[in-house]
Amino acid sequence: MMYAVLLLALVATVLGFTSGPPVGSTYPNLCTDMIPTGHNGGMSRADDTDNPPYTITASADEYMRGSSLTVTITGTGGNQFEGFFIQARRADPARDNDVAIGTFSSPPATTQLLTCHNVENSAWGHSNSMTRSSIEATWTAPAQDEGPIKFMATIVKGVPDRDYFYLNVMSSQISFNATGGVTGAPTQQPVTPTSGVVTPTSGGPSHSRSVSVTLALVAALLASFLSIHKY
Ligand SMILES: *[C@@H]1O[C@H](CO)[C@@H](O)[C@H](O)[C@H]1NC(C)=O
Repeated sequence: MMYAVLLLALVATVLGFTSGPPVGSTYPNLCTDMIPTGHNGGMSRADDTDNPPYTITASADEYMRGSSLTVTITGTGGNQFEGFFIQARRADPARDNDVAIGTFSSPPATTQLLTCHNVENSAWGHSNSMTRSSIEATWTAPAQDEGPIKFMATIVKGVPDRDYFYLNVMSSQISFNATGGVTGAPTQQPVTPTSGVVTPTSGGPSHSRSVSVTLALVAALLASFLSIHKY
């Protein structure tokens, strides 16, 4: 049993499985700058970082108060991806563009909703670094006029390794339509982080590499203790 744990921990460590964007107090800037500092210090080794081989599309080119749309991340030219971290942001440069807007729902398996800027489910990311070609979830607008918005993502290609990623992958702008919409929609007032501290959604997705290393160390210590003492 201990050896199984040790083996699993070692395999996970070597392969670099991740449990998703480690939002939370350990990485206080992650929700805002969306830079994966656990991947080569946040410096992508991808060749053409200005031309990400990914598109982000929405099922509508406008949103209304409380309305929902489907957001899809797709690899182009046969490219796939292993990790992603996405938020909606205000697109009007005259407004605060650094906070997540609206909320995500219906995350498929192997993905998770995340809390950024003190708003639950305001970000969406992977929870397992499996290879994928396309993935979608629902995004719901807040009740107030946020002006035009766009989706912004960090996408980890993962090939040849996790140091290959793309920042600032953007959708087209989605404009606000004041005509329709749900009048009783909940009002969302994202809090601009002054302390920079964000709260994880559920128990806190941790950075699995360090967790794996810790697990491996604990398992190795226990295994050697058991073999010495022959229990
Ligand atoms: C806004 O939404 C209303 C109601 O659905 C629609 O009739 C109108 O054409 C939309 N306006 C724009 C500018 O798209």
